[in-house]
Amino acid sequence: MADKAATLTYDNKSIELPVLEGSVGPEVIDIRKLYGQTGAFTYDPGYKSTASCESALTYIDGDEGVLLHRGYPIGQLAEHSSFMEVSYLLLNGELPSKQELDDFSYTISRHTMLHEQLMTFYRGFRRDAHPMAIMCGVVGALSAFYHDSTDISDPEQRKIASHRLIAKMPTIAAMAYKYAVGQPFLYPDNSLSYTGNFLRMTFGVPAEPYEVNPVVEKAMDRIFILHADHEQNASTSTVRLAGSSGANPFACIAAGIACLWGPAHGGANEAALNMLREIGTPDRIPHYIERAKDKNDPFRLMGFGHRVYKNYDPRATVMQKTVREVFESLKVTDPLFETALQLEELALNDPYFIEKKLFPNVDFYSGIILSAIGFPTTMFTALFALARTVGWVAQWNEMISDPGQVIGRPRQLYTGPTERDYVPLGQR
Ligand code: CMC
Repeated sequence: MADKAATLTYDNKSIELPVLEGSVGPEVIDIRKLYGQTGAFTYDPGYKSTASCESALTYIDGDEGVLLHRGYPIGQLAEHSSFMEVSYLLLNGELPSKQELDDFSYTISRHTMLHEQLMTFYRGFRRDAHPMAIMCGVVGALSAFYHDSTDISDPEQRKIASHRLIAKMPTIAAMAYKYAVGQPFLYPDNSLSYTGNFLRMTFGVPAEPYEVNPVVEKAMDRIFILHADHEQNASTSTVRLAGSSGANPFACIAAGIACLWGPAHGGANEAALNMLREIGTPDRIPHYIERAKDKNDPFRLMGFGHRVYKNYDPRATVMQKTVREVFESLKVTDPLFETALQLEELALNDPYFIEKKLFPNVDFYSGIILSAIGFPTTMFTALFALARTVGWVAQWNEMISDPGQVIGRPRQLYTGPTERDYVPLGQR
């Protein structure tokens, strides 16, 4: 029982609501018994003041620009860790020993292949299908293939489904790319790292050996780390809600992919690079800043602003540094990087952006690196989905493991017609 309580006065009655405390972060007023005690609901359409669950995975302090996975700051993980290690951490709660990491990486590598029949699904898509459309379809189709890992009440089966999803996602994403460019699919090469294997399946061709560039591999791995989990965002909440009914795990992740696709969420990286291309040169920036500020213009600065961060997104800081490293190593330049830097500087000094606390988010710079590596913009969100899969499955597992887990079922403020009698067609 919580020590603290909040008192709500409603309809001339006072009721006590327990106040819950996490290990860090805002206190949470527990309203679970509110309806039973008052007959009233609360109203919070975008969940701006609502904690939808209890979680021990990821913590964000949006005002301070802090992001922790199982307590570890994202900057430290991006600098010193690997995507496989962060995946282990998210799934298991602690950093692995050397042996545990080797075993985990080996297990993931044993699941990288797709069932041959699954590959025939690709042919059903138009060649110009968006990779996210293919991802939604193919990941959803996994639910029809791996029947031995769909009993969600069995922790072992949940673990196998999670490993399968993490392992197969690079193969599925790379094949979506290959299908679009008309090149043959490449099977996984498990002698390579998780990320190296993905780069080879994407950019390699059967006719030639493919050398993984270690700087690109490191940058890509870091991008995966930066996208691995982000607390109860829209797609993660979608996965949890879908999973709360006991649905097939692969289908739940497909639901997450569908949600991620939107331009306000994962689709922002694609939209941000398209925006920078549209702006083109730095002299055109002021015009676009004015448009972003104009309430009558739907244009927004893509890659700017965040529901939770009211400070610099810590992932954007790492991303900006990574752009420089990749450019130096690949000996490339992109005038859009200069445009992005100047856009950031102008926006951060503009009263509109200062007042509304709008800062660059993770997507502002990611497109510039991904494009330098050779990915078309349409692949950007698919890469986000690949990396976020570990967060989705870790959150889904956490939810299903909770003995108090119930189906998610929000209520509503009904504003439609009240009861009325049906009028036969001829009398209308
Ligand atoms: N450009 C111009 N104005 C903006 C922007 C922007 N990018 N973002 C927010 N605002 C304004 C908005 O018009 C509103 O103004 P007012 O109070 O006068 O109505 C105010 O700032 C608050 O915005 P909001 O839309 O109410 O805030 P939100 O928390 O609902 O939305 C957001 C957050 C990320 C959807 C929004 O900032 C946005 O659309 N950004 C651009 C898309 C983007 O970069 N998304 C990626 C998010 S990070 C990756 C991920 O998690 O998927």
